[in-house]
Amino acid sequence: MVPFFAMDLVLTDARIATLSGDDYGVIADGALAIKDGKIAWVGAQADLPDEAASTTRSLGGRWLTPALIDCHTHLVFGGNRADEFEQRLRGASYEDIARAGGGIMSTVSATRAASADELYAAALPRVEALAAEGVGTIEIKSGYGLTIDSELKMLSVARQLGEATPVTIRTTLLAAHTVPPEYQGRADDYIDLICDELLPEVAAGRLADAVDAYCESIAFSASQVAKLFSRSAELGLPVKLHADQLSDGGGGALAAQFSALSADHLEYTSTAGVAAMAASGAVAVLLPGAFLTLGETQLPPIEAMRDQGVPIAVATDCNPGTSPICSLRTAMMLAARQFKLTPEECFAGATRVAAQALGLDDRGTLATGQRADLAVWDISHPRELAYWVGTPQLSEVILADTL
Ligand code: NIG
Ligand code: FE
Repeated sequence: MVPFFAMDLVLTDARIATLSGDDYGVIADGALAIKDGKIAWVGAQADLPDEAASTTRSLGGRWLTPALIDCHTHLVFGGNRADEFEQRLRGASYEDIARAGGGIMSTVSATRAASADELYAAALPRVEALAAEGVGTIEIKSGYGLTIDSELKMLSVARQLGEATPVTIRTTLLAAHTVPPEYQGRADDYIDLICDELLPEVAAGRLADAVDAYCESIAFSASQVAKLFSRSAELGLPVKLHADQLSDGGGGALAAQFSALSADHLEYTSTAGVAAMAASGAVAVLLPGAFLTLGETQLPPIEAMRDQGVPIAVATDCNPGTSPICSLRTAMMLAARQFKLTPEECFAGATRVAAQALGLDDRGTLATGQRADLAVWDISHPRELAYWVGTPQLSEVILADTL
C-alpha cells in the first residue's frame, strides 16, 4: 500500500456509511484516505496509521457517504410539456395524448428544432441541480431525436455535459423510444434503421454506454425490442429496458432474457417476470417520480422483488413528460412514501445498486479501490436522506475528477 504520508487527502472525525454490509455499513468513528482519485483506506479512526501526516481534514462528526448516482434520466430535451400536465389533470391519459401525436412526439419536435448549443444550455442547469444535492454520476438517455442525426446530437450534448462538469455522465441510446412520424405504420423499418445504421455508428464511436428501448403498446413490441437487443449484443453494447410501465408486456422477462443491466419502471411486471430478473441478475430501477406524475395506482411488485433478491435502484427519470423532477433526493423520499422502500433501500438504490444498474463496479460504496466520489452531510442519521426534501443537509461533495 502507498505510505500514508503520501496520501492526497485524509478525512477524519467522520461517521461513515460505506453502503457495504448491513445497516448502511456504518463506521461510527471513521476516517478515509484518498490517493489519485481513489479511496486508499477506510476504517475506524483508531486504526488510522500514525504516520497519516498528509493533508488531513476533520469532518467534525458529519456523515460521509458515497456520492449519489442517478441511473435513469432523460434530462437533455427541448421545450417542456406543462400543457400536457394540465390536460392530464383534467382527465386525459398519457396514452390518449401520445396517440393524438403529443407526448414523447411533442418533445421530439422541440428537440429536433433545438441546436446542440441550445440543448446543452437547457440541460446544464439540470445537471448542476442534481450535483448540488450530492449526485456524482448521472445517466442520460437520447430518445427525443429519432433520426440518426438528432439522436447523435443528443448523445454528443450528453457527452459534452460530462466533459464540462466534474459529474460522470453515462450515455444511453434510446432511439427506440417511440415510432417517429416518418415511420408511422412501419415500426419494423425504423428498428432496422437503428440496427443497421445508427447502432454500428454509435458503437464504433463509443457514443453510448448502453442501449435502451420502450416496450409498450404505444411504443415497441417485445419482438422489435428483441431484434434491437440482439444487434446491441453483437456490437458489445449492454442493454436496459423501459418495461411494464403502463401494462404487463413481459418486459421484465424480456430484459432478463437479454441479460439486461436493468429493467426500469416495472409497475405491471408479473411474479414470473420478477423471477426471471432475479435469475439473470437484472436490477429493478424504480421511478417514483413518473408514478406520482402520471397518477399511477398500480405499485411495482416490491415484495416479490425483495423475496427473490432482485436488487432495487431508485432514479429520477427526469423528463418533461412523465417526471418533471430534477431531484434524486425527492425521488428517494417518493420511493419511501409511495413504494414503502425502507430509507436504507432508497439510499442503497441511489448509490450501490444504481452503480450496478449502470454496469459500474468502481463506485456506489466506500471501499478501498473505489473512486473517491463522496458526499458529506449535516445529518444525524442516513435515514434522513429519504425523509427531508429541499432542506440543505449537503455539506460538501468531493468528486474524483476534481481532486
Ligand atoms: O421514462 N416511458 C417512456 N419514457 C419516459 C417518458 C418520456 C416522455 O413522456 O417524454 C419515461 O417515463
Ligand atoms: Fe424513462
